[in-house]
This record gives sequence, C-alpha cells and structure tokens, in this order.
Amino acid sequence: MKVFIAGANGMLAHDLAAMLAERGHEVLKGARPEFDIIDINSVQKTIEGLRPDVVVNCAAYTAVDSAEKERELAFKINGEGPANLATVASEVGSALVHISTDFVFDGKKNTPYNESDPTGPVNVYGESKLAGEINARKILPGSLIVRTSWLYGLQGPNFVKTMIGLLSERESVDVVVDQVGCPTYTVDLAEAVASLVEAGCKGIFHFSNEGVASWYDFAYEIVEILKSKGTRLKLKALRPVLTKKFPRPAPRPSYSVLDKTRYRVAIGSDIPHWRDALKRFLDSHDLEAIKKDTRRC
Ligand SMILES: NC(=O)c1ccc[n+]([C@@H]2O[C@H](COP(=O)([O-])OP(=O)(O)OC[C@H]3O[C@@H](n4cnc5c(N)ncnc54)[C@H](OP(=O)(O)O)[C@@H]3O)[C@@H](O)[C@H]2O)c1
Repeated sequence: MKVFIAGANGMLAHDLAAMLAERGHEVLKGARPEFDIIDINSVQKTIEGLRPDVVVNCAAYTAVDSAEKERELAFKINGEGPANLATVASEVGSALVHISTDFVFDGKKNTPYNESDPTGPVNVYGESKLAGEINARKILPGSLIVRTSWLYGLQGPNFVKTMIGLLSERESVDVVVDQVGCPTYTVDLAEAVASLVEAGCKGIFHFSNEGVASWYDFAYEIVEILKSKGTRLKLKALRPVLTKKFPRPAPRPSYSVLDKTRYRVAIGSDIPHWRDALKRFLDSHDLEAIKKDTRRC
C-alpha cells in the first residue's frame, strides 16, 4: 500500500514510518514547513499529487498544558487539521487513519474505557482532539480512529526520557500516584496501527500496551530496570505524591485505562504488557541516545 504520514517528524510518526516500510509498504511523508495540515492548499497540493491509498494523521498539537492558553491554535491543528485531511482524502479516494487520545474521556470511571463510552474531556487538548475525531468521522465516515495513551519512544520528548534525566541528577524525585492509565511504546502502537490498516478496519479502536499503571508505578519500573542493568543513579528516594502537590495548567483525567477488546478481536494477536515493552525499549537503545531530546517535557 502507498501510505502518506502527516506530521512525519513526530515521535509516533517516526516509528510508524519504519514499521510500515519494514512490512513492505511505500511510505510517503509530510512535515512542516512544507506540509501543514491547517493549510488546506498545502494538504490539497500534497495529497492530490501523491494519491496515497491511506493517509495517517500523526500531526497534532500535543503540548497539553500550553493548550489551555493556546485554545485557538490547539483547535486549529487538532480539530480543523483532521477535517482538512478528511476532506482531501475523500476527494482523492484515500482511507484516513487519525490518531487520538485517552484524554477524550473525563477519567471518572474506574474500569477501562471502551470505544462507545461517553466522552467528556477535562482539558483543552482533550476537547480539541475530540473535535478532530468528530470532524474526521463526519467528513469521512469510514475513517479509522486509534485512541492511545501515555506514549514514549526514541524520537521526541516523553516521560521515560525525563525520568532517566532526573534519576541521574537528583537524590529524590516525586511522582504522581493518583493518575492511572497505561504507558504505550510507540513501536507497539506502530505495529497495531499497521495491523489495523492492513486489515481494513474502520471506526474507533483503542490501543495501548497491556496492564495498568500510575505515573509512580511507571517511574518505579524505570528505576528497577535501570538498576538491573547496573546503571549508576544519583536517586535515593522515589516518592509517590498526589496530583494536588503538582498543580498544572491543564487538569488530567485521574483514570484513563483503555479497553482493547475490539482491537484484540479484530487483529487476534496478544498485546505486550507495558512492563515488557518498557524493558524492550530500555534494552534496545543506548541510554545516552534515549536521554537526548528532552526539551519539551
Ligand atoms: N504523546 C502522548 O503521550 C500521546 C498520548 C495519547 C495520544 N497521543 C496522540 O498521538 C499522536 C502522535 O503523538 P506524538 O507524541 O508522536 O506527537 P509529537 O511527537 O508531538 O508529534 C506531533 C507532530 O505533529 C507535527 N505538527 C504539529 N502541527 C502540525 C501542522 N499544522 N501540520 C503538520 N504537522 C504538524 C509536529 O511538527 P513540528 O515538528 O513541526 O512541531 C510534530 O512533528 C498525536 O495525535 C497525539 O495527540 C499522544
């Protein structure tokens, strides 16, 4: 298949491009400044020129806290961007895959969210991502929407990179224990997206790694894996703290575990547990390479 990735310089996009190429697909890429999803002319010129079988939207405004002050920009990129892609994809006859987030939910449940649970974002980022889902499905009803959570990977800033930096610089680190979700390795998500595309799936699917964790559990596991690898850490105390100790501009859902039953039924393969995925990530890259690029954490 000929697959066009919008937002090709992002963390997920990087692993998705590699995964699709490895599986024999032709991968085409669009990234700013040449390709901008909020500029309909840019979207039209690129997609009409390439005529891909599938457009995958990995482009997004992902700065959750800044979105509270940049509402208009967040809605332009996360709401109007997918609408532009859906409009042009439908004109050209391409399928559309749009990546979305656990932040479309309010976090008030205490069992995993499935695809038909009511949405209710608690911050601007979540609201803008929900607008993107709605726009994509309205314009191109056969769009595939993949909601995911707590991403980390080699490319781009993320929690694992931030923690690795902190653990080697500080004797004590406080980590939030009352937000629960599931960390997801971008390589595993890339494989899931590729499988869904190849199977011709449409509609909403949830995908994250298996299991449940708080940010504290996630940090604790990073420490344990690094210690088991003999990494020298300055850290003496990793302390669980409540969200209220770290007030941030954007509220977060306190519970955002995604139910992956629909994915499992459609694809029929096991999903790696987040602890195994994390170990695989930390085992397969040099720590210095992982630590690079923590600028936006
Ligand atoms: N990160 C997470 O924890 C997480 C969790 C759940 C869901 N998601 C979703 O997963 C997807 C991928 O996330 P990610 O973490 O890989 O994102 P990311 O690393 O922040 O990458 C997003 C990319 O989008 C590009 N972009 C932004 N505005 C654009 C525009 N107007 N036109 C074209 N490209 C534009 C950015 O380009 P520049 O390089 O030019 O800035 C960046 O390369 C997103 O839809 C996100 O909402 C992420």
